[in-house]
Amino acid sequence: MKTKLVKIEPERANCSDILGQNALSAEAEAALVSAANVIKSGGLVIFPTETVYGLGGDATNPDAARKIYEAKGRPSDNPLIIHISSPEEAEKYAHTTALYYKLADRFMPGPLTVIMDSRETIPEATRGGLKTVAVRCPENPIARELIRLSQTAIAAPSANLSGSPSPTKAEHVIDDMLGRVDMIIDGGDCDFGLESTIVKIEGENKLCLLRPGKITVADLSDIADVEIAGAVMSELKAGETALSPGMKYRHYAPRAPMVLLDGNSEEIINYIKKSGQSNASVIIYSEDKEHFEKAIPRLSLYSIGNRSDKVAQAHALFSLLREIDKKHYDIIYAPLPSDDGIGLAL
Ligand code: TXA
Ligand code: MG
Repeated sequence: MKTKLVKIEPERANCSDILGQNALSAEAEAALVSAANVIKSGGLVIFPTETVYGLGGDATNPDAARKIYEAKGRPSDNPLIIHISSPEEAEKYAHTTALYYKLADRFMPGPLTVIMDSRETIPEATRGGLKTVAVRCPENPIARELIRLSQTAIAAPSANLSGSPSPTKAEHVIDDMLGRVDMIIDGGDCDFGLESTIVKIEGENKLCLLRPGKITVADLSDIADVEIAGAVMSELKAGETALSPGMKYRHYAPRAPMVLLDGNSEEIINYIKKSGQSNASVIIYSEDKEHFEKAIPRLSLYSIGNRSDKVAQAHALFSLLREIDKKHYDIIYAPLPSDDGIGLAL
């Protein structure tokens, strides 16, 4: 398949935030009209969001859903998130509740996905056979305008080959997906860099967190009681069913095995020295660079940002893993992030 590449300058796209209305350039608008036509005719378009790039197709068209699974190499029982251009559009696709609108008022458009009972408008192929559907209204103006022009919901998983780290730059998408989709929209780097927070509505005032993200447990707890799904913190036990099918598959993973180390710099350095690995890469906090360079001069170091700056770390993580993958190390060492705030997503 020949993939059409289109570039939309993010600065222009961002005008809409300032003016509070759509202010894309005429050129960008024309590109999005042709992208929307691809979606309407059942094709696939990769587009930027504020979290990661998405691989989109018409969420109401089962053939488009099947094409998405094929392009990604993803098992078809792993359901897709449907993307809408305003929170009220969820009415067409899901049985919304008061709690959905409370969440929407506070966090949408933005990096939050809400799971609710599905309506018939979303075919089983998109839902991976489940009775529920995952709904998200992204903030990125290119994404929102594409959805609006497509006049449907857009089903979109992250635009990586199944299993590999999600793409946060157009070059990542091109590496994985050229020749597998009809169109790629290059809208620059994704702002946040990790996938959306996913919650399931479980009662009038009860949410279950299935995937941590920028919207934290503390943020959500302002609105409702939040339970954290077991698979967020530990591996699924044998025979345990995943609340989110995606939890049972290897995901966001670099090729080399990755070891997370819980300790201070000295303890981490000692562990790495003892392990005797010579072809290893080590992810470090920027302020520790000199210390690590002196202690383990032969290993390759990659700074992920300052220890306290989790937003910078989120922005860098997937890109760093992809860069490291290209060098074919035997092992990757990294500091274990704390499990509060955005740290849980990291
Ligand atoms: O930030 C994001 O959410 C990105 C951008 C493109 O919007 N999308 C994304 O989609 O990360 P994906 O398909 O890579 O991850 C969606 C996860 C999967 O683990 C899937 O199993 C889960 O959401 N999921 C989707 N629908 C579900 C449902 N009805 N019930 C439980 N889990 C669901
Ligand atoms: Mg994904």
